[in-house]
Amino acid sequence: MDELNPDRPIWLAEDGLTVKVIDQRKLPHRLEILELTTVDQVIEAIVEMVVRGAPLIGVTGAYGVMLAAASAEGRDGLEKEAARIRAARPTAVNLAWAVDRTLAAALKCERAGQQVAAACKEAGLIAAEEVENCRRIGIHGAGLIEQISRRKNGAAVNILTHCNAGWLACVQWGTATAPIYAAHQQGLKVHVWVDETRPLNQGARLTAWELGRRGVDHTVIVDNAGGHLMQHGLVDMVIVGTDRTTAAGDVANKIGTYLKALAARDNNVPFYVALPSSTFDWQIRDGLRRIPIEERDPDEVRYVQGLAGDHTRQVLIPPVRSPAANYAFDVTPARLVTGLITERGICRATVEEIARLFPDKARASS
Ligand code: MRU
Repeated sequence: MDELNPDRPIWLAEDGLTVKVIDQRKLPHRLEILELTTVDQVIEAIVEMVVRGAPLIGVTGAYGVMLAAASAEGRDGLEKEAARIRAARPTAVNLAWAVDRTLAAALKCERAGQQVAAACKEAGLIAAEEVENCRRIGIHGAGLIEQISRRKNGAAVNILTHCNAGWLACVQWGTATAPIYAAHQQGLKVHVWVDETRPLNQGARLTAWELGRRGVDHTVIVDNAGGHLMQHGLVDMVIVGTDRTTAAGDVANKIGTYLKALAARDNNVPFYVALPSSTFDWQIRDGLRRIPIEERDPDEVRYVQGLAGDHTRQVLIPPVRSPAANYAFDVTPARLVTGLITERGICRATVEEIARLFPDKARASS
C-alpha cells in the first residue's frame, strides 16, 4: 500500500495486528493515516467518523473483532467486546452484520491464537467481497449511464449524488460512485453534481476529493440546489448510496436524501440507490418505523470546519446559545426509488423484485 497515494481507506499492516486507516476527518486538506491497535481505538474511529460509510464501518468493525480476540478474556469477553463494537453506530446495518459474521468465525475456534487468525481471515474476506460487489455495481450501473449518454448523443450525463458513497466509504470503487468510475473508464462523458452534505460536508470534502483525483468532472453545490437543477433539466439521474435498505426497498441514507428523491419524482428524474447485499436488512420491511436513526452531537451542526490559511479551523455559525439538532439519516420510501443497483443486477424497490435477485438471502420480514 502506497501511504502517500492510497487507493483504499483501510488495510492491515505487515505485523497483522495493526489496522491502518485514512483519517477522513482531515480530508481533503490533509492526508493522514491512523493506526488502530485496540478495540477502544476502533470504536472511537467509528464513532468519531475517522472511518465512515456503511461498508467501511463494517470492515473496520470486523478487524475490531480480530483485535478483541487478541486481547479479550475468554469467549464471554470476546462476545462483550464485539457487542461494544456493534453498538458504535446504529443506522448502517453493515456494522452489525460484519461484526456478527467475524465473531461467529472466531468462535468456531477454541484457542485465542486461532480465534485471532480466524477473525483476521474473515475480515479480509469481507473486505474482498465488498470490493468485488462494488466492482459489479459499477458494471451494472454504467449500463444505465450509457443508455442516457446514447439518448443525449454522447453529451455529458449529469449525475447528482449526496454524501460520500465512494471508495472512501467502501474499501474500493464505492457504491454510488462505482457506476460513475466505470462509465468514466469506458470513455463516457459524465459530470457529477456533488451535494456538499451538511453538517459534516462528506460531499464537499470527500466525494469532491475522490472525483478530482480520478479526473471526473464535478461541481460542488449546496444541498438545497438539487431541486432547482432538476427543474431546469440539468440532472439526468440521481445515484446515492445507503446505510440500510429494507427487504421491501425503503432506503436509509444521509439526511437530505429523501428531499432529493421527492424533487426527482416531481421532475421525472430517475432516482437510483446503489448497494451491496451487505446493506440489506432482510429482517425488516417498514424502514420508517424500524430503522434506527442516529442522532449525533449538535456541535456538528453548529460548527463548520475548513481551511483558513495553512490551518484547518472550526468556526461557530449560529448564536452561541441557539440549540441545534443533528439527525444523521432519513428514510426514502421505496415508492420514490426508481431502482436498486446491486452486485447481482438492477431491480425495482419491491419485496418481490429484491427477493428475485436474492432468493438465498431474503426471508420472512415484518
Ligand atoms: O454518516 P456517514 O458519513 O457514515 O454516512 C454515509 C452515507 O450516508 C453514505 O452515503 C452511505 O454509507 C452510503 S454507502 C457507501
